Amino acid sequence: MDGERITALSEVPDDSTVLFRVADDVGEEREAILVADAVAATDGGEPTGSEPESSGDGVACWLNYCQHLTHIKLDKGSGAPMRDGELICANHGAYFEADTGYCSYGPCEGAYLTDLEVTVSEGEVYLTDDEYEFVGMGPVESDDLDRASTSNVEF
Ligand code: FES
Repeated sequence: MDGERITALSEVPDDSTVLFRVADDVGEEREAILVADAVAATDGGEPTGSEPESSGDGVACWLNYCQHLTHIKLDKGSGAPMRDGELICANHGAYFEADTGYCSYGPCEGAYLTDLEVTVSEGEVYLTDDEYEFVGMGPVESDDLDRASTSNVEF
């Protein structure tokens, strides 16, 4: 199998997301999420012609950013909220179909999450996207807010 193993398919919950880190083609770290894709094309949706195809593998992968405000994370570190097969942005309540990334409701309605290519083989999920390299599990650790909140502690 070409590509880097992210996690086991069994680790991807039905009602939330798994957070991990990738590096893009200029080496910048970004967050991505895996989400169960068990509902592939159940209610049809409206074909737009540009709709990314569901992988049908049981899992979909998206960059961890809302399409309304792209610095806002869907998964803030403990899994993104979901309802009825849709990811919910906690900030202003946008809904994104887990399998297509389509925003069906909210301020960015009609937009799509950015997809990463993943492949499932023998129960393991691999990152098989030429534009991204797997870095590790969990969030990107560089939070200026954290630094600011501890920098004025004096002893
Ligand atoms: S930032 Fe996600 S809906 Fe506004």
